[in-house]
Amino acid sequence: MSAGWNLDGRTAFVTGGSRGIGFAIAQALLQRGAKVVIAARDDAALKDAAERLGAESGADAVLPVVADVSEAESVNGALARAHAWQGGLDVVVNNAGPGLTPKPLSEVEEQVLASVFDTKLIGFLRVTQAALPFLSRDGKGAIVNVCGVTAHALIPNASVTGIVNAGVVALTSYLATEAAPSNIRVNAISPGMTTTEGWLTKSAAIGGQQGKTAEEVRAGMVQSLGIRLGRWAEPAEIGAAAAFLASDDASYVTGQVLCVDGGMSKPVA
Ligand SMILES: NC(=O)c1ccc[n+]([C@@H]2O[C@H](COP(=O)([O-])OP(=O)(O)OC[C@H]3O[C@@H](n4cnc5c(N)ncnc54)[C@H](OP(=O)(O)O)[C@@H]3O)[C@@H](O)[C@H]2O)c1
Repeated sequence: MSAGWNLDGRTAFVTGGSRGIGFAIAQALLQRGAKVVIAARDDAALKDAAERLGAESGADAVLPVVADVSEAESVNGALARAHAWQGGLDVVVNNAGPGLTPKPLSEVEEQVLASVFDTKLIGFLRVTQAALPFLSRDGKGAIVNVCGVTAHALIPNASVTGIVNAGVVALTSYLATEAAPSNIRVNAISPGMTTTEGWLTKSAAIGGQQGKTAEEVRAGMVQSLGIRLGRWAEPAEIGAAAAFLASDDASYVTGQVLCVDGGMSKPVA
């Protein structure tokens, strides 16, 4: 993918940057010239990701920082390190989230629900509160929250992630209003079905149970979920949308949710 250098000189902090959508966002920001801190809990996976990203963009462009977004002390330390690394902070991408909890709301245990909220919704707020004192106030400051199509389309058994993602939509609106006087933009991207490592493994496992290939399982979901473009997203397509919102190309965009879902969330009349 060709990418302009519209994030040259910027420093970004991406939670959940060790794999999946977070990795693809980190890659997109690096391809556009940013220096990127990636944060996650698993040290070995994080170092491996930083090595792969650094091989493309230069080892000095990536800093892996172990952090757990469900712990305030860990988050505060990570943001302080990110700021000290290049002496500034311009972009925060709140992406880290737990895996799916495929259960109807009537059956989900309170502790499970609380933990999902704590990692994603409150985690996004924790990271934002720690980042705000460091973020640039000269127009370069931008926060991008990764929400998800479950906030906009009703997907069977995806209610837990759906209500958390709906919370991220509201969080984005309120934060955008509060941060605007500081010249910091806050937006969200809402990915649809994306061929992350996690989904590639999951669709292969489902296929194994149903006597189908992983590709057949994903094609079946395209039909059942009504994905208008007729295919799943590549992680890089999600990364590109996040990079747009982080850049000056989106300098007059704040408080918005950009659905990157192949048209899946648009109902048919
Ligand atoms: N994949 C999709 O199709 C899809 C669609 C719509 C929305 N989304 C959203 O996109 C985001 C990323 O999803 P994904 O599929 O890429 O997930 P993933 O492959 O499971 O990756 C999750 C990332 O978050 C990190 N993480 C998880 N819990 C954390 C914690 N407590 N503290 C710090 N890091 C943590 C993980 O690393 P560690 O485990 O090492 O911490 C990993 O780097 C999520 O918010 C998800 O809801 C995904």
